[in-house]
Amino acid sequence: MEWKDKKVLVTGGASFIGSHLVDLLLAKGAQVRVVDDLSSGRTENIEAPLSQGRLELVKADLREPGVTRDAVRDIQVVFHLAADHGGRGYVDLHQAGPASNLFLDGLVFFEARRAAVEKIVFASSGCVYPNFLQGNVKEEIFLTEGQVAPPYDADNLYGWAKLMAELTLKAYAKEYKIKTASCRYFTVYGPRGVENHAVMAMIARAFIGQDPFEVWGDGTQIRNWTYVEDIVRGTVLAAENIDDGTAVNLGTRERIRVIDAVSETLRYTGRSAKIKFLPDMPVGPLNRVADNSLARKLLGWEPRVSFVDGLHRTIDWYFSIKNKEDVRRILGEKLTER
Ligand SMILES: NC(=O)c1ccc[n+]([C@@H]2O[C@H](COP(=O)([O-])OP(=O)(O)OC[C@H]3O[C@@H](n4cnc5c(N)ncnc54)[C@H](O)[C@@H]3O)[C@@H](O)[C@H]2O)c1
Repeated sequence: MEWKDKKVLVTGGASFIGSHLVDLLLAKGAQVRVVDDLSSGRTENIEAPLSQGRLELVKADLREPGVTRDAVRDIQVVFHLAADHGGRGYVDLHQAGPASNLFLDGLVFFEARRAAVEKIVFASSGCVYPNFLQGNVKEEIFLTEGQVAPPYDADNLYGWAKLMAELTLKAYAKEYKIKTASCRYFTVYGPRGVENHAVMAMIARAFIGQDPFEVWGDGTQIRNWTYVEDIVRGTVLAAENIDDGTAVNLGTRERIRVIDAVSETLRYTGRSAKIKFLPDMPVGPLNRVADNSLARKLLGWEPRVSFVDGLHRTIDWYFSIKNKEDVRRILGEKLTER
């Protein structure tokens, strides 16, 4: 796909991941429109291209009458990232908000088809994988795309909505002959990340010098945290290489325990603290790591940033721009809200 002067819409483009995708698309020469209601996105994330006049920003809720129809007008490629979404605390404790994604996603796809866009790329999630596969920390499992199949068992209504959107896009490709692709992001972190996600919360706790240092669960949960630059590079490759609605994992194969990520965060930031485990807080699936061989095969994609390297870069960013009083004030609420 030739990106030069391509007319691209990024819904939710002021978000953490969305803003990195916008940066990459602009660097490739695309003409980018962002529609974002700023419910969790921030204009600071896209301040540079905005101030240089290289980006069109529409501040609006896509669910309001006419907004999505206007958003897709004259657009060739839609990257749909707007979502009611938060970290583990939010996804476990809130169902009604994420359920609204069913309506939002359906509307975006419906209007994109009506406007005859060339392609729709969707930001899906590891939350579409069956919970029953991810409960044993002793197993060395790597989730493969085909495991999202009956009996479905997605992760909260957030995961069910992502799953329905994926299936919708598959059906659109088959029946309406629209080119579509879904990318299953796995626990993304990096600069501009928000404290409602585990790695960012760890960094925030180290930043304010929390002691005892709180860890949700017993710390043995396993994740494959994936660096945001790798995620957006994979998303663009999916736009270039997938047409038939295939959903592809974008995640590393690194198996990191929460407690080991905490230890490295404390070590790198020069902090020492007593660890306080909070077993009653939401932990999500105990063992979630992606297989990424399909992405390698279809996209030629492999993650380039190791967890340790990405963690250090993210800590450097966080410590260089945050203010301790602000972080202390917002952290408690952020952990369970958007
Ligand atoms: N961060 C992760 O680890 C992760 C993992 C899997 C999937 N995802 C998906 O990636 C996408 C981006 O997530 P993120 O973590 O960067 O942050 P995010 O959740 O803040 O991104 C959502 C963006 O959509 C905007 N938005 C929400 N509802 C809207 C509406 N009705 N109209 C217009 N804009 C609206 C928000 O303001 C925000 O900018 C989301 O779809 C999310 O579900 C993220």
